[in-house]
Amino acid sequence: MTQVLADSYGRVATDLRVSLTDRCNLRCTYCMPPEGLEWLPKPELLTDDELNQLIRIGVTMLGIDEVRFTGGEPLLRRGLVGVIGATTALSPRPKTALTTNGIGLTRTAAPLAEAGLDRVNVSLDTLRPDVFEQLARRRRLDDVLGGLAGAAEAGLTPVKVNTVLMRDINDVEAPDLLRYCLDHGYQLRFIEQMPLDAQHNWRRDTMITADEILDRLSADFHLEAADSETRGSAPAELFYVDGGPETVGVIGSVTRPFCGACDRVRLTADGQIRNCLFAREESDLRSLLREGASDERIAESWRAAVATKMPGHGINDPSFLQPARPMSAIGG
Ligand code: GTP
Ligand code: 5AD
Ligand code: SF4
Repeated sequence: MTQVLADSYGRVATDLRVSLTDRCNLRCTYCMPPEGLEWLPKPELLTDDELNQLIRIGVTMLGIDEVRFTGGEPLLRRGLVGVIGATTALSPRPKTALTTNGIGLTRTAAPLAEAGLDRVNVSLDTLRPDVFEQLARRRRLDDVLGGLAGAAEAGLTPVKVNTVLMRDINDVEAPDLLRYCLDHGYQLRFIEQMPLDAQHNWRRDTMITADEILDRLSADFHLEAADSETRGSAPAELFYVDGGPETVGVIGSVTRPFCGACDRVRLTADGQIRNCLFAREESDLRSLLREGASDERIAESWRAAVATKMPGHGINDPSFLQPARPMSAIGG
């Protein structure tokens, strides 16, 4: 019997975001330092079988109907295709998506599609190789653009593109990025930067806000807000570009929070349930699994973890404290 993941504010979590690794092959300045981070030790990572078991419990016992694979960089996880295959073989079959930096996607898009993956979101912050190198500290722009094309060709659509705009780094590129995505049939979303970087360098006064993004785009494009009733729990507000049907999205996590409609729950690569990106506590499903707990016991613990979800992220509260884990270790 399904017992849904409900919290005390009436929200129900149906979207499971699974981090497959905390490692990454880029070093984006807004995410981690040049030397990388202290990665999770292998024995602490869930094995593929453990991942499959938890995803099965979420889907068959707890009402999860969409599974998103994230990281770190999920394409670095060797067993990715197998985990996706096991997920899409479940009944009822959940929708599946992957959030990736796109490196290696040219090669892996077809096997991922064959394993049943529905769609991908790819991070792309710039179209300029020198800016890419400054921002991601690697020269891999061509790999990312190739990965995007590979994803579209393999039918992992709609292909969505995520762009974090940063002042005096890539902000001037907003119209070029939108033009590029329109020309290639990708759905672009601009994202407000959140205080989730490992270095704790986030600053509210330099962050590019949703209002500013819309102002900048309006100089080159005619934007018209899409019907907000169709938004549901999606973080992106959509705008028709030049009369549509193409859209551009704005994810205003900080200045236009969408926590009231949140339907997400997260599983970290080391088997901890986080009921919010900004949760202060985690629930340790890995230990339960490794102690041989029954599926029912694990499901019960998972439900208890979601029940205590906070009403919102609190970024705008004076007492806000950044979570101990950075975004790369939580799952994007
Ligand atoms: P789809 O629109 O269904 O493809 O999902 P998505 O937009 O959630 O996917 P993606 O993983 O690409 O996330 C895009 C951005 O949304 C992230 O970079 C975050 O900035 C933001 N985001 C994702 N999940 C959350 C969340 O739980 N809370 C907040 N505040 N922001 C989130
Ligand atoms: N704030 C907002 N988005 C972020 N991402 C990474 N760090 C942050 C942050 N601090 C984005 C990446 C990627 C997605 C998984 O999260 O650009 O598109
Ligand atoms: Fe890697 Fe994503 Fe962090 Fe960039 S933002 S370093 S691609 S995890």
